Amino acid sequence: MAPFFVGGNMQDIDKLGDELQAAVEAAGSLDDLEAVRVSALGRKGEITSLMKGLGAMDEEARRSAGTALNALKDDIAAAIDARRGTLQNAALTEQLETEGIDITLPARAEARGRIHPVTQVIDEVVAIFADMGFSVAEGPDIEDDFHNFTALNIPPEHPARQMHDTFYLEAERDGAPLVLRTHTSPVQIRHMQSTSPPYRIIAPGRTFRCDSDMTHTPMFHQVEGLAIGHDIHMGHLKGCLEEFARVFFEVDNLRMRFRPSHFPFTEPSAEVDIGCSREGRELKIGEGNDWLEILGCGMVHPNVLENVGLDPDEWQGFAFGMGIDRIAMLKYGIPDLRAFFDSDLRWLRHYGFAAFDVPTLAGGLAR
Ligand code: DAH
Repeated sequence: MAPFFVGGNMQDIDKLGDELQAAVEAAGSLDDLEAVRVSALGRKGEITSLMKGLGAMDEEARRSAGTALNALKDDIAAAIDARRGTLQNAALTEQLETEGIDITLPARAEARGRIHPVTQVIDEVVAIFADMGFSVAEGPDIEDDFHNFTALNIPPEHPARQMHDTFYLEAERDGAPLVLRTHTSPVQIRHMQSTSPPYRIIAPGRTFRCDSDMTHTPMFHQVEGLAIGHDIHMGHLKGCLEEFARVFFEVDNLRMRFRPSHFPFTEPSAEVDIGCSREGRELKIGEGNDWLEILGCGMVHPNVLENVGLDPDEWQGFAFGMGIDRIAMLKYGIPDLRAFFDSDLRWLRHYGFAAFDVPTLAGGLAR
């Protein structure tokens, strides 16, 4: 930098200003910048030295040089601050780029495993009902006669028992053979026996019936629902199921129909159909004039409440039971139920879901 002489004129001050500005801009690191700062504003810096020289000037020259030097000092100090900010940002960016971990990278380059459609649909159903305040309850696959039948108002010799195509085990409890549960309804009984009301639960799980064809497998899945309180009525049942079906099938004005039916454990009982179209082999939900049954439901029978020690004059509510495999086939266009349980990896690769895409209402049910 050109030497600057005490008593120099305004052009010299301007020139020094240009040189210092250029030096500040040229500083490529915080260390370089600090060197420029010391050379200009430090104790022996150029501006500092000039200011020290002011005292030797005559008054007029001192006033004008003083004003100009103060302005220069402020300008250079501001330029240094700005440059420091830029260099610090650049340093931070470089640090983040070199030291950072990219958490968007997949844990493994290629996740091979897929989520089975049944698991996916159970997760979706749970997400939807959890949003309505239901929690998940569980019960055993091997049941006794009381929980699977009698407590549900299906006494011995009741004709409904024949319709269940029950698998009986050799082992007995209370003089009756154990069974593979034929529906998820016994979880209602177990839940009501072990906790006190009010209740709002769903119970997804495996169920078993001795039956096998295009649309039946000996093992299949159901989800049970139960809501008991002081004044829960059929309107609540209807509201919950309509909300569920609309969110699950992702059709806003899904047509639904509640058809009178009969189940021993509910009174009144209904079966629920949703609107669909059938053209050739293609079935579309939410269109057309056809109907498709998706679940059974009703108001919990007073006998069932009495069987678990609840007073039906005080407590009432609804229950429903739905086939999970069935709604999975409908939603994801899967034609043959039996393929669900063949453990064919090509099938699973085609119909399965990405392992890390957990269904949520906020993030989307299925991607
Ligand atoms: N348990 C019945 C079945 O397996 C389904 C069902 C119907 C469950 C009506 C219910 C209900 O809770 O209220 O076919």
